Amino acid sequence: MPSYQFTLDGQPQAVEADADMPLLYALRGELALKGPKFGCGLAQCGACTVILNGTAIRSCILPISAVAGTNLRTLDGLPTEAGPHPVQAAFIAEEAAQCGYCTNGWMMTLVAGLERDPNVSDQEIRNMLTGLKCRCGSHMAILRAARRAADAMAQDATVQDQVVQFDPQTDAVDLDVDTDREAQA
Ligand code: FES
Ligand code: FES
Repeated sequence: MPSYQFTLDGQPQAVEADADMPLLYALRGELALKGPKFGCGLAQCGACTVILNGTAIRSCILPISAVAGTNLRTLDGLPTEAGPHPVQAAFIAEEAAQCGYCTNGWMMTLVAGLERDPNVSDQEIRNMLTGLKCRCGSHMAILRAARRAADAMAQDATVQDQVVQFDPQTDAVDLDVDTDREAQA
């Protein structure tokens, strides 16, 4: 049986499987991940979404042979030692899940889209999430969570830009105010 190697949530990984095994089956059955879910199996609901080379894709219809050499990210790999991903934190804050079965799809789609560009309008968020399904009807809470995550990630990007742009050699602040005033008196 062939072996397929790829990077999974930052770690090298290999799976022995038939070439046409759906990626979702390999992730859940062979690698015991719990994030991606089986919903429709037909690329219709998004419950199985993972991020492949930066793009959100449906893992239920992608054969394992197509991911050899790629970089995969899943919900299981999102939290860091610093805490939950901003998208996860927003879903928690907005209580944007009921049964939670669909949550993987919304989160991974948002992570891919907002990491690319968090400065998005409400309409752009809706476009990003087109095609995802929630049978519990949590859509309004999910949209609030998406807005909260985008704002948090945009704010964080702004702070990061300021840190990068600050040059202590040329941007040093003149704190010698009193001395200047004394010289003018
Ligand atoms: S299980 Fe893949 S889109 Fe529904
Ligand atoms: S929270 Fe139950 S399907 Fe979405």
